[in-house]
Amino acid sequence: MEDNLQLVDLYSWIGPIESLNFDCGVVKINNEVRKLFNKEYEDRRVLGLVNQLGNLFGLIAFSLGTTSLIQKGEHPLERYPVLSVDLLAIQKKYQNQSYGSRLLASVLKMALTVNCLVPIKGIYLEALAEASEFYENRGFQELHPFIPGMKFQKLFMNIASVEKLGLYPYFDIFNLD
Ligand SMILES: CC(C)(COP(=O)(O)OP(=O)(O)OC[C@H]1O[C@@H](n2cnc3c(N)ncnc32)[C@H](O)[C@@H]1OP(=O)(O)O)[C@@H](O)C(=O)NCCC(=O)NCCS
Repeated sequence: MEDNLQLVDLYSWIGPIESLNFDCGVVKINNEVRKLFNKEYEDRRVLGLVNQLGNLFGLIAFSLGTTSLIQKGEHPLERYPVLSVDLLAIQKKYQNQSYGSRLLASVLKMALTVNCLVPIKGIYLEALAEASEFYENRGFQELHPFIPGMKFQKLFMNIASVEKLGLYPYFDIFNLD
């Protein structure tokens, strides 16, 4: 893992950044990354891992949302506030070096931070079927059984489970490391 990487808010970052040709190996996600860079979503926070040369190793986007938790035995008509992970992508050449885990941990910490101010029920995401194991190995649970042919898996981690991971909220939200 390269040292001297910074976790930055990409929309307010004024340092160098090489965002063209971002390639995580999944065309659909690459296209979404492009939309994030074009600021096509107003409701999302985007954090990037960059080195001092401005090379972008990966990014994670998240927003506030609500979800039904009927599969968890909650009221069928109720929707619950959650932090939603909208995208996680690591450039192909940097995959399998813990950068994805590091970005995911930053959002778990962000969820704890938000929960200090306004209670949320947990973290929700829709993972590509082939990536769902990555999240399950990190404490997320399926919201419904996998059906062959299904492209996305809905996953959830409640805030109590995040608290048990030994992570802490951000105390200085302008310094995310
Ligand atoms: C999935 C992804 C975010 C993981 O980030 P990473 O930095 O490569 O992963 P880490 O080094 O932190 O952890 C390694 C784990 O990722 C898994 N992984 C690595 N590349 C992967 C890939 N292309 N697809 C799915 N999982 C992958 C490894 O099997 C390993 O799993 P385990 O530790 O649970 O056994 C990253 O590989 C990626 O961007 N893949 C392509 C885009 C994608 O699938 N994004 C997620 C969409 S929901």
